[in-house]
Amino acid sequence: MTDPDRNLIEQFERDVSTIRDMEQYVSVRDRWLARETGIITTRMKLLRDLPSEERPAFGRAMNELRKHAEERLEAVLEVLKKAAREAAISGSLVDVTRPGFPYPVGCEHPIRRLQQEIEDIFVSMGFRVFDCPEVEREYYNFTALNMPREHPARDAQDTFYFDEPELTLLRTHCSTVQVHAMETMKPPIRAVSTGKVYRRDPFDATHSPMFFQVDVLVVDEGITMGDLKGTLETFLKRIFHPDTRMRLRPGYFPFVEPGAEVDISCIFCFGQGCRICKQTGWIEILGAGMVHPKVLRMSGVDDSRYSGFAWGMGIDRVAILKYGVEDIRLFWENDLRFLRQF
Ligand code: DAH
Repeated sequence: MTDPDRNLIEQFERDVSTIRDMEQYVSVRDRWLARETGIITTRMKLLRDLPSEERPAFGRAMNELRKHAEERLEAVLEVLKKAAREAAISGSLVDVTRPGFPYPVGCEHPIRRLQQEIEDIFVSMGFRVFDCPEVEREYYNFTALNMPREHPARDAQDTFYFDEPELTLLRTHCSTVQVHAMETMKPPIRAVSTGKVYRRDPFDATHSPMFFQVDVLVVDEGITMGDLKGTLETFLKRIFHPDTRMRLRPGYFPFVEPGAEVDISCIFCFGQGCRICKQTGWIEILGAGMVHPKVLRMSGVDDSRYSGFAWGMGIDRVAILKYGVEDIRLFWENDLRFLRQF
C-alpha cells in the first residue's frame, strides 16, 4: 500500500490491537469507518487541498486503507464471535456429559402378568389364544351355551345389559370362547381365552363387578374325562406348585355334561387344614366338564363323532391365593405401594 500517511496505518493497527470485546470493536470501527465522521472519510476530504498531480495516488492510497481497515475489522469480528460462542457453550448451565435423570418405569399389573403366564402355559401345550369381545351378544354368552332365555342359570350371573330386548351385554364369563372357537375352527380344537368379565356384584373384599377369567376348550375325536383331568392337572401344577393335587366333585353347569367343581390341595397348608381352606385341606378353584352335546351341535360340531372338555376359572382368585392377598379391591385401587410388591 502506498502510504499517504505512514502514521495513519500504524495508528489504525494499534487501535485494532486494543479490541477485546464487542463494544471496543464497535467504537474502533466507527472511529475509522463511519460514513461522515470516520477518520478515513475525514482524511479523504483533504484531497481537495492537494495539488492535482498528487490526488490520484492519495485517493488510491486512502481507498486501499479503507479496504484494508474493513477486512481487518471483519476478521476481528469473526474472532470475537467465535470466542463468544465458545464462552456460551463452556459457561452454559447444561452439562451434556452428566448422566440423565432416570424416568420411573412402570411394571405390569399382577393380574395382567398372571393372565400372560396362563396364556403362555397353554400356548406351550399347543392351544390357540382367542381374543373374544367383552361386549357380547346374548347368543354367545348364554343361548349357544345351552342357556336359553328362560333358563334359571342366567339368574346366577347377574348381567349388565345394554339395551332392550336384552340382546347386547357385557360378557359374564369367558366361556363364550367355546362358541367362537367352534364357529371359526374345525376339530381338533384347542382354544384358550382370557380377559375381563362383568357381573352385577357389589365391590367388596371378595367380589368385584369386573374380574378376570380364563376359559379353555378342547374338541376332538375320542376326548374323555381323562384328557380333561390330565390337562387340568398339568396346568394347575404349573400355575401353583408342582406338588399341587386336585379332585373333581360333581357340579352343574348348563354347557357341560357331566360337570365338575374342581378343588386343589390347599396351597397354604399343603392339605393339612388351615384357616384359608377352613380346615378341609381343599380349595375350590374352577368349574369344568365334558362339553354338552347340544353345545357342540349348536356351533356346528358333529356330536356323534366329536367330544370335548371345557373349564373356566377366575384369574383374580388365583392371584389372591398365589400372592396371599386378602382383599380383592387392592388389585384395582392402583396404590403403588401395593402394586410395587409384585
Ligand atoms: N363359566 C363358568 C362361570 O363363569 C365357569 C365354567 C364352568 C367354565 C364349567 C367352564 C366349565 O368352561 O366347563 O362360572
